Amino acid sequence: MAGARAACYDRSLDRISTRRMETIGKYRVVKELGKGATATVYLCASPDSDLPVAVKVIRFGQDCAAMSRRLRKLFRNEEMVARRLDHPNIAKVYEGVVEENFAYLAMEYIQGFSLEAHTRIDKLLPLHRVIGIIFKCCMALDSAYRQGIIHRDIKPANILVRGDDEPMLVDFGLALNLNKNMDRDSTFITGVGSPSYMSPEQVKGYQLNQKTDLYSLGVVLFQLLTGRLPFRAKNQATLIYRIINTEAPDVTSLNPGLPEGLNAILRRALEKDLYSRYRNGAEFAKDLAAVRYQIVGDDDTVQDNRHFEMLRKLAFFTEFENVELWEILRISVWRQIAPRVTIIREGESSKVFGIVVEGYVEISIAGRTLCRLGEGEVVGEVAYLHPTSDERSASVVTLENTLFLEINAPALALASEELQERMRTALLGKMIDRMRDVNRIAAALGTPAVESAQSLMAGSTRAAPGTGLDLELAPP
Ligand SMILES: Nc1ncnc2c1ncn2[C@@H]1O[C@H](COP(=O)(O)OP(=O)(O)O)[C@@H](O)[C@H]1O
Ligand SMILES: [Mg+2]
Repeated sequence: MAGARAACYDRSLDRISTRRMETIGKYRVVKELGKGATATVYLCASPDSDLPVAVKVIRFGQDCAAMSRRLRKLFRNEEMVARRLDHPNIAKVYEGVVEENFAYLAMEYIQGFSLEAHTRIDKLLPLHRVIGIIFKCCMALDSAYRQGIIHRDIKPANILVRGDDEPMLVDFGLALNLNKNMDRDSTFITGVGSPSYMSPEQVKGYQLNQKTDLYSLGVVLFQLLTGRLPFRAKNQATLIYRIINTEAPDVTSLNPGLPEGLNAILRRALEKDLYSRYRNGAEFAKDLAAVRYQIVGDDDTVQDNRHFEMLRKLAFFTEFENVELWEILRISVWRQIAPRVTIIREGESSKVFGIVVEGYVEISIAGRTLCRLGEGEVVGEVAYLHPTSDERSASVVTLENTLFLEINAPALALASEELQERMRTALLGKMIDRMRDVNRIAAALGTPAVESAQSLMAGSTRAAPGTGLDLELAPP
């Protein structure tokens, strides 16, 4: 049943994309604005107004007539509800029309960007803007709920932001999300749409109330702050398991620069237990307003870019992608350290590790110098990589004014798998280089080696591989 429905929608989607439309009802199509999983949105001119209109077309497909009747009825009901909605942060719905094989909805055209453009670590918006935007979304959801409407599909793509930073919620009401909701099981099967923003009660298919929207908005907030989703998995079954059963990490553990206060807010928004979750949008908004943070001005953005450029120049990061460098910046602290300051002390336990960006440090063991490390050298990686022990085997002391990029190890453990893999490879490379240096020193102290009469590779017939003579075990 679910499979049949899915196929029906897929085919109808094909038809939408292949047919070129010139008018939709009384609206003249100007251009396509975008495609979602189940609909296409066009920028249109309206005969009744000078203002541009966004028209969303949802096609039913003839072979799903029974389904269509149900959808049609729902669509009509919800259209009436959506038209009732009146809030400055909710896109207006002008009319909804149901035709034989498709339905369309004319709504306020929002010129701006969707929050989806700012969900990646290298594209994050400054904190004060994120808080301002989500605050207004909370108030819009609050107002919608008081008018009896639940959104059910809050996600970054459904929050459009105008030039004046006013967020506008689009796709309100079940009618607009009808394919997604009525086809919930086929959504999972076909992989159309993702449960990433769905509340635990939503993935379980339970009855929903307004709290589902607050949860989804919490996921959006989490992503805008950290550049990643609270729950991630390689497949949907695991993702759903995690949404239902596991706790999201603290946002400060992923982005140590964030104010502590955000952790409690996200915990309440992402609360699985409905009784403990925020009761309404106003409560959520009130907590957001109380978060203490510094307004990030242009200076900080300039500083961020400067830091990025500094890392980009270091040989250690050559193999890192730009997006991974931005991720490093979010989980690190820049320390300007005076000369003769101990960063790591031999024998103590700590996970401090990082990169010398400017200056020099001395590595010593039992009061004797081992080496000096300068620009682009990594420090403290052994305890970081060691699977069980974080006891320090050497001391690290600054020799001059040193700029040290300290990477937060617990945050790195929660970073993207790509970054962790990249870091492990880079650190392993460094360790092998150093081990070779140390071996060279150790060998210099050794006894003279035996002289070989012949080289293994250079045309030797006696010791060629496959002759049965094991060189390593042969006595010297
Ligand atoms: N009212 C609107 N004004 C401007 N652009 C819109 C509007 N509604 C939707 N869009 C654009 O059309 C795209 C497709 O919308 P939709 O079919 O709802 O899918 P989704 O929300 O999953 O992206 C959106 O991502 C957005 O960029
Ligand atoms: Mg949408």
